[in-house]
Amino acid sequence: MKKTIVLLPGDGIGPEVTSAAANVLRECAREFHHQFEFVEQPVGGAAIDLTGTSLPNATLDACRKADAVFLGAVGGPKWDSLSVGKRPESGLLGLRRGMGLYVNVRPVKLIEPLRGMSPLKPERLGDLDVEIVRELAGGIYFGERGNVTEDGKERSWDTESYSTPEIERIAAFAYARAESRSRRLCSVDKANVLETSQLWRRTVTAMGAVYPHVRLEHMYVDNAAMQLTLKPSQFDVMLTTNMFGDILSDAAAALVGSIGLIPSASFGTGSPLFEPIHGSAPTLAGKDSANPVGSILSAIMMLRDAFGLGLEADWVEQSVVRVLGAGYRTPDLASPGTKAIGTARFMEILHEEMQRTLEHAERYGWGV
Ligand code: NAD
Ligand code: IPM
Ligand code: MN
Repeated sequence: MKKTIVLLPGDGIGPEVTSAAANVLRECAREFHHQFEFVEQPVGGAAIDLTGTSLPNATLDACRKADAVFLGAVGGPKWDSLSVGKRPESGLLGLRRGMGLYVNVRPVKLIEPLRGMSPLKPERLGDLDVEIVRELAGGIYFGERGNVTEDGKERSWDTESYSTPEIERIAAFAYARAESRSRRLCSVDKANVLETSQLWRRTVTAMGAVYPHVRLEHMYVDNAAMQLTLKPSQFDVMLTTNMFGDILSDAAAALVGSIGLIPSASFGTGSPLFEPIHGSAPTLAGKDSANPVGSILSAIMMLRDAFGLGLEADWVEQSVVRVLGAGYRTPDLASPGTKAIGTARFMEILHEEMQRTLEHAERYGWGV
């Protein structure tokens, strides 16, 4: 298989976790005889420093032409004083928009060896395995905004707006996802207050006729945040807006031990994009302390969901679980009785485990 993958390392720990993901993809290509060509492009603060803009045209063009795109993270204190439209984060939003990415899937699944790292008691945590389907190209992130000074006082506004087709396309994805899982879909909104949420709820409900096997439930976002903490295993697929999805996914990430564990995949009208859900974690940058697992799991989603390489994806995923099962942990997950190591050492141990798994599979067959 021949693929072109654009790498967007970005800022802070972005380059460290991108390099981890790229190493895993390279190893897949080597062992399974694929040709992955990597093209690196600047985005975010790194692109501002280099070119004066957070999303250079050349970066967007390369991403549009790629078979898949991988992004580390953007942002950091160096660029925090810039206005909203000029910040590194606006480069990421421009990229999502510019690539037509309207679906963002964030799977939050307990990795069994990490059960003890959850802030929840085991009986509350249950077998947490939720997929948050976040709308990515609309809502308050992209609505009209502004700032004026009236009578010497400032006023600012951001507006949330959703059209029926925008809701239908993301809901169709979530329904299909629910159909392929446990057929339960929870749509999260604030329909007791917001006009956009009323349209959201009506539209999602009406689409239920097309998916008669999916059991649809609606939940207000404030209650959803509480239910995630009280009894997270009640959820299977959660469908929600751009803003609510951003917030709920960080909250859900905490339940499985660290935000550094959670991957995401974005789909739309063109090439897909894969990125861990965490940010640039500026205080960890350059300290060999970033958890690379969310990034590696994002690469695994690329293998499975963009390239259809299920065997390769399973190979890496099982190796990651075994390394965690053996007690190796980056500092965010270290606890008494585990082996605290840095990012680089974690990657070495993962590489050794992948080689061991491969030799075992070559001798005895896969899945043994
Ligand atoms: P953050 O996700 O960077 O960090 C939140 C907390 O989680 C911090 O304590 C951090 O140390 C920890 N953390 C995050 N990723 C980790 C990892 N891989 N391993 C171990 N610990 C990890 O969020 P923040 O602090 O709110 O934001 C920092 C910067 O990142 C800001 O500029 C923000 O805008 C940006 N950001 C970017 C993205 C993105 O590029 N996708 C996402 C979120 C935030
Ligand atoms: C995320 C991030 C981004 C978002 C920011 C950096 C624009 O928080 O991917 O979760 O809000 O979507
Ligand atoms: Mn976020």
